[in-house]
Amino acid sequence: MSDSEEKKEDTPQVIIKDVWKVFGRDPKRVLKKGLREKTKDEIQKKTGCILGLRNINLSIEKGQFYILMGLSGSGKSTLIRNIIRLVNPTSGEIIIDGKDVTSMNGEQLLQFRRKTFGMVFQHYGLLPHLTVLDNAAYGLKVRDVPKGERYAKAMQTLETVGLKGWEDYYPGSLSGGMQQRVGLARALANDPDILLMDEPFSGLDPLIRRQMQDELVELQEKLQKTIIFVTHDLHEALKLGDRIAIMRNGEVVQEGTPEDIVTHPADEYVQEFVQDASPAKVLTAGSIMEPAKVLLYAWEGPKTALTLLRSNKRKAAFVVNKNHKLLGVAKEDKLAKWVDEGNHSGKIPPEKLRVVPTVTEDTILEDLFPIVSDNPYPIPVVNEVGKLMGIVTTDMIFEAISPAEGDDHD
Ligand SMILES: Nc1ncnc2c1ncn2[C@@H]1O[C@H](COP(=O)(O)OP(=O)(O)O)[C@@H](O)[C@H]1O
Ligand SMILES: [Mg+2]
Repeated sequence: MSDSEEKKEDTPQVIIKDVWKVFGRDPKRVLKKGLREKTKDEIQKKTGCILGLRNINLSIEKGQFYILMGLSGSGKSTLIRNIIRLVNPTSGEIIIDGKDVTSMNGEQLLQFRRKTFGMVFQHYGLLPHLTVLDNAAYGLKVRDVPKGERYAKAMQTLETVGLKGWEDYYPGSLSGGMQQRVGLARALANDPDILLMDEPFSGLDPLIRRQMQDELVELQEKLQKTIIFVTHDLHEALKLGDRIAIMRNGEVVQEGTPEDIVTHPADEYVQEFVQDASPAKVLTAGSIMEPAKVLLYAWEGPKTALTLLRSNKRKAAFVVNKNHKLLGVAKEDKLAKWVDEGNHSGKIPPEKLRVVPTVTEDTILEDLFPIVSDNPYPIPVVNEVGKLMGIVTTDMIFEAISPAEGDDHD
């Protein structure tokens, strides 16, 4: 890959720069020195204008699942609408794929929107007099895609969202969850680079909602779209997001990975949000693992391994090959017996090793509980080719999920 190509890859897909949005008459006056520093309430009292967004700066990478979270009225919808200029920023820039969206004229904007974005709303936004198929094909129709092609594409996305067989029904005869699938199919039919989703699951019953979240996670593994997703639900945010921006009164008060947010809330507002979030659901094996203190190398043979175990007063240790691939656990008693039988050199044979369950760096701690409870050894963390990256012990897990000292005062 050449330098310039690499650079392109590194540039965020969406850049939001110094964006302000003020609703009301003559909004620009609010941005003048003296007023802009005031709180949202003070601005409203003094000018009658409502501060929607205050100096937002965010970068979103291609393929990221990006969450905007905050209480009602914090500015999430205003921000997501600014990105496609359904609402125009009062000042600031929005750069998407290197193009300045804020300077586009009406026609350019329309073309760009249709080509780049798919949008899913909380209230589905389906047309009741059109069938499921026509609803899913609607965005393509608007783009003048020929009938055959748009139906083929719509059929395909309906199948992707699990609605095969429902093409000829009308939205009114579908459940909420199914209607939202149609909304998603319609957004995906355009094959957009960026999906904007504004509280898409907020109107659904909890069980259906969880199911839709699971399906979206699965879908995203296949699609690898850039998704900007609004929610006021922390659990949804933690489950779906690669990164989360937390908004309050039109400002971003914290931005980071789910793990950053849960383990280091920036202020009391974020703390309130995350207080019932379990670190076990966000911390990963990779974030707490440590290198194995005693490691045996298969090619050094049983005698050396035994000596190493005994000098470290260990009953067992992990064994790796020359590529650091994990082969299993060697136990002191088994090795001793093997050596006593006269086998001093040569590789430690695999049948003398015990196979143990492994996890990867992105396994969340919650999924380690059943493994530590069934297994006397630390848990080896391996990469996709089985290389040993580190180990996790029960103590390390419990230390990571207990509140930090000094945090639990009353
Ligand atoms: N068209 C509008 N006119 C005036 N104020 C608005 C308008 N849209 C949003 N607001 C105000 O902007 C703030 C942010 O609203 P919104 O983005 O809808 O919040 P959220 O989506 O986080 O619930 C709120 O105070 C809201 O009242
Ligand atoms: Mg909203």
